[in-house]
Amino acid sequence: MRKIRAKKYHTVYIVGAGPGDPELMTLKTHRLLTEYADVVVYDRLVSGEVIKRIPKGVERVYAGKSCKKHHMTQEEINAELVAQAKRGKKVVRLKGGDPFIFGRGGEETEHCRANGVPYEVVSGVSSASAISSALGIPLTHRGLATGVRFITGHQQKGEPAVHDWKGLADAETTLVVYMGLANLETIAKELIKAGLSKHTPVAAIQSGTLPEERRCFSTLAKIAKDVKREAFEPPTLIIIGKVVALSPYR
Ligand SMILES: C[S@@+](CC[C@H](N)C(=O)[O-])C[C@H]1O[C@@H](n2cnc3c(N)ncnc32)[C@H](O)[C@@H]1O
Repeated sequence: MRKIRAKKYHTVYIVGAGPGDPELMTLKTHRLLTEYADVVVYDRLVSGEVIKRIPKGVERVYAGKSCKKHHMTQEEINAELVAQAKRGKKVVRLKGGDPFIFGRGGEETEHCRANGVPYEVVSGVSSASAISSALGIPLTHRGLATGVRFITGHQQKGEPAVHDWKGLADAETTLVVYMGLANLETIAKELIKAGLSKHTPVAAIQSGTLPEERRCFSTLAKIAKDVKREAFEPPTLIIIGKVVALSPYR
């Protein structure tokens, strides 16, 4: 008879916290935080309201990544997850939104796998989904948008992302730009140059789903100036496309 080997380490759970509003956290994430975790390694994007749900006595490790200032590098975070698991801890890695949408969750799973540490990924509500719904912007809509694309606004080191702008400049596709605030002027210019109408509606949302949320509705030609004038800051999500005009909050 084959012997079933006991697991050497506890599973590392890489979980999405959602966009900020704690009610948008899944029941599974909540259960892992309150009933499983010995230690929670969390990012800057995880809201204070979510952090409040972590019981006293659970160790908290702030990984605090932001695009310009890194509290821990990605390599240090990867190492921390594996080290804690190898110390016998039940680790929950808590990330903003969904861990697999611009969340570098894949790098963390690869590192766990390479080190023989079992892991599971738990989806979270991504900011694109939560914010568009809350603002009444359907990301797809019959007659207006046959698809949606999630893109990043910057490459490593904050450089503007290099995209196939012609491929992206499709009036029937909604574009959601993560981390797009710093390079918004370039993004808008490139899309207009590639053929997207300068009148295309655009929404920029800072701290979506949180009490401090700010919104700016504009057009592709004007959005960069508008968010600059209003001093928008990260985290800001940009939604570009005809569907933005359906929002009752414009
Ligand atoms: C590193 S990405 C992480 C995305 C996350 N994994 C998700 O699924 O939403 C960070 C970017 O997500 C967007 N973002 C995340 N949460 C947000 C929020 N509450 N309000 C506005 N934008 C948000 C912003 O564009 C921010 O710069």
